[in-house]
Amino acid sequence: MTRIAIDLDSRLGTLDSRVFSHFVEHMGRGVYGGLCDEAGRLVPRVVQLVEALEPVLIRYPGGCFAAEYHWWEGVGDQRVDGLDTFWSRVGLGALESNAFGTDEFLEFCERVGGVPYLTVNMGTGTPAEAAEWVRYTGGRVGTWSLGNEVFGPWETGHQGPVEYARRAEVFADSMLAAEPGLDLVGVGADARNYLNWNEAVLDRIGRKLKWLSLHFYAPGPEAGCLEDTRDGYMTVTAAAYTLGRSLDEMIGLIRAKDLPIRLALDEWAVWSCDDELRGTAESGESAPIRDALFAASVFHRIIERASWVTMACYAQLVNVLGLIQTEEGGVFATPVYHVFKMYRDAAGKEAVRVEVDGSPTFEAPELGRMPRTFEVPFVEAVGLAGDGGGVTLYAINRHPSSEIEVVIEGWDGISQIETLAGDGPFARNSFAEPDRVQPVTSAVTLPRVQLPPHSITRLDLTRS
Ligand code: AHR
Repeated sequence: MTRIAIDLDSRLGTLDSRVFSHFVEHMGRGVYGGLCDEAGRLVPRVVQLVEALEPVLIRYPGGCFAAEYHWWEGVGDQRVDGLDTFWSRVGLGALESNAFGTDEFLEFCERVGGVPYLTVNMGTGTPAEAAEWVRYTGGRVGTWSLGNEVFGPWETGHQGPVEYARRAEVFADSMLAAEPGLDLVGVGADARNYLNWNEAVLDRIGRKLKWLSLHFYAPGPEAGCLEDTRDGYMTVTAAAYTLGRSLDEMIGLIRAKDLPIRLALDEWAVWSCDDELRGTAESGESAPIRDALFAASVFHRIIERASWVTMACYAQLVNVLGLIQTEEGGVFATPVYHVFKMYRDAAGKEAVRVEVDGSPTFEAPELGRMPRTFEVPFVEAVGLAGDGGGVTLYAINRHPSSEIEVVIEGWDGISQIETLAGDGPFARNSFAEPDRVQPVTSAVTLPRVQLPPHSITRLDLTRS
């Protein structure tokens, strides 16, 4: 028997709304042919779907693209019509007309109610260019990242940790001179691969930063294109536990250094092959319910660390690994999009400790960047305190084929319930079947709840 116990007296921090943030990068069909047309005009149906997500921060213009982006080429009347230099080099790029630039992005944020978050070019750019960009935005952008993935040999401007920290400080100083009080994000790295990176960055610029970033892709492009296999399903749905360990590593370091800095998971998604970065749903990369289970589990790792992880941007918003898929005349939302909607109103609530006891477990095979993981529970749950002693409980059953009954200890009566499951572990939406996977609402009589296979469930528990 699987039991869920909620400890309302044990509080884990208030969930920051910025964990429901997004990411738009110039690559593949992310911007042109996704968010906007070739002339940079926004696509109304996409705008509507983004608005319904209630986005918080929106990170732009990359990613790796940012490491070769000169913002002045995308403003004013004389746009520089050229090549997407970064992504072209690896065969994933296209022409970059710069029809969509800073002003169009800021207008998009305004239309959808989002808050702009820009990444400065620390690859081919200079501190003066970054400071000019800050001045150009004239107080409309408060959050800036000091480069992107500088730790990676694939990144333009790649440096070691000490060199990056030194250079990032020069960028920070020059941007803060242009506009004091900016919220700056320093590039952080997964300590599993870059052992001393975070320490060097924190030691040098820890007090100038509001956030240290982490990027997490499961299983990672090293895995090669993921087929709809049981092994792939097991690894992807278990992957957020690996993320949890990486976050804990970083939290431990920040605690030890007694810094007021927090963590920004400012790129995260399922990504398994480079082809997906073209962003064409026809090539089969549209996310199945498997990826929705991963996304929900990432939210659980964040909720459990609510006072530490205060920003997270899903990579990406449209087409490229996107929550929203488009083609000429057609648009649909993936199951991951629905996860965002199910969890969105958890923002601002206090996370409480939830224990799941007696869940059956499985072993997830090693794949791509994900290590072999033992004793992964099929069932996991998190909770957030509501009004009048109530709790919003989120439960996942990642079993690919079996329903699992849980008992929610100490709760009875009738509860509203919302479930996202689909009709199989690889059920996905498509242009032909845009609503194949979507949440279903019903009511249950507590304390027993049947969690369907491959499902995410939201329960609103109230005290009568
Ligand atoms: O999201 C795609 C790419 O993945 C981003 O440009 C980069 O930051 C990451 O490696």
